Amino acid sequence: MSSEVHVKNIGLRGVTVADSAISFIDGEKGVLIYRGYRIEDLADNSSYMETVYLLLHGTLPTIEQEQRFVEKVKAARQVPDFVYQSMKQWPADAEPMDILQAVVPMLSMADEYGDTFERGININRSIGLIAKLPTITAAWHRIRNGLEPLPPDESLDHAANFLWMLQGKKPDAATARELDICLVLHADHTFNASTFAAREVVSTRASLYAGVAAGLGALSGSLHGGANTKVMKMLLDLEGEPDVEAWVKDRLAQGHKVMGFGHAIYKTGDPRAVYLKKMGQRLGEQTGQNWFTLSEQVERATLAEFAQKGKTTILPNVDFMSATVYYMMGIPLDLMTPVFAISRVAGWCSHIIEEQFADAQEKPALYRPKAQYVGEYCGLMGCEYSPPEKRT
Ligand code: COA
Repeated sequence: MSSEVHVKNIGLRGVTVADSAISFIDGEKGVLIYRGYRIEDLADNSSYMETVYLLLHGTLPTIEQEQRFVEKVKAARQVPDFVYQSMKQWPADAEPMDILQAVVPMLSMADEYGDTFERGININRSIGLIAKLPTITAAWHRIRNGLEPLPPDESLDHAANFLWMLQGKKPDAATARELDICLVLHADHTFNASTFAAREVVSTRASLYAGVAAGLGALSGSLHGGANTKVMKMLLDLEGEPDVEAWVKDRLAQGHKVMGFGHAIYKTGDPRAVYLKKMGQRLGEQTGQNWFTLSEQVERATLAEFAQKGKTTILPNVDFMSATVYYMMGIPLDLMTPVFAISRVAGWCSHIIEEQFADAQEKPALYRPKAQYVGEYCGLMGCEYSPPEKRT
């Protein structure tokens, strides 16, 4: 057996697998950059549509470029009817992330470009997916509640239109803007698990749709995008709890995690969390709900516990406050991770295109790591095969 050094159980932490010009994180300084621009600048001044353009094309758009881009996205929002007809047959209690993952290959079947493989066409395919994921998410919520999906509203921007299709009423301007900022904040994050999954899949020369479906699968897990739903479940469990500090202490003592805390890269703070906190506070005031206050109590108690154990690098991440924010926006618990996906699809598509159309000399090879084999081993001739009747 080989005795070479391997990276067992570190989840590829610190291993660089490809060049990328899309985003950059400094985990020690709490900095996130998309295509050269700090996330704070984009959150304060940009919009999700402009950010998507930046991620896909590499530069901020001119006024005309942005107008054309937004029109293209709006024109691509509608989902083929056969998708709705299928969705109406699906179990009403299906996981919404499964629904999204099931619909993406259906969109591939309806792809108007056939097997054409060009950068510009893959940008159009990306626009189609970015436009349609909100429509599918909202439609699923209505279908499972016995309602007809609502058509997209041309007059509304990306975030406002999603809330309209989901809730059947137009959101107020502040809430719509805040959801748009949430989409900016979640749009990309270097080689996180779902983006890596998407890139890994297309490194086999599989399609953009296959890559996005893989990204959706990876995002659904509770250590990744699924954490926001878990955070909200935790807060709902905690509602009415007389002693939050004791609850947190007990949970950690039992070896459970406090969801929404910790990050594989950020060790001094997640720059996205700052924005979500401000939104949580404002939405708390607007709605009169106490989730922000409860989140803050959990945060204080968890940080105090970690500080006692000298674990000062485990801090609230993007999912901690986004759960509270989405809940107060009226987004159902199990649609919180789909909302993450509605944003992150822009990052996946940008990374997929980068992976697919890198210059020949820079093109990442087919990903093919090694495993350290720790199973049964009887030498290179293999173990002796015994017929079923001789097995004990
Ligand atoms: N609650 C309690 N303890 C936590 C914790 C949390 N949320 N996150 C990390 N820790 C502890 C681990 O138990 C471990 O303790 P140990 O050294 O005593 O065994 C230590 O911190 C390192 O944890 P590890 O999971 O190896 O850190 P990581 O940096 O590789 O993992 C996450 C990052 C995100 C997987 C991890 O922090 C986590 O599971 N968080 C909760 C889920 C979550 O919010 N995910 C969304 C991420 S954006």
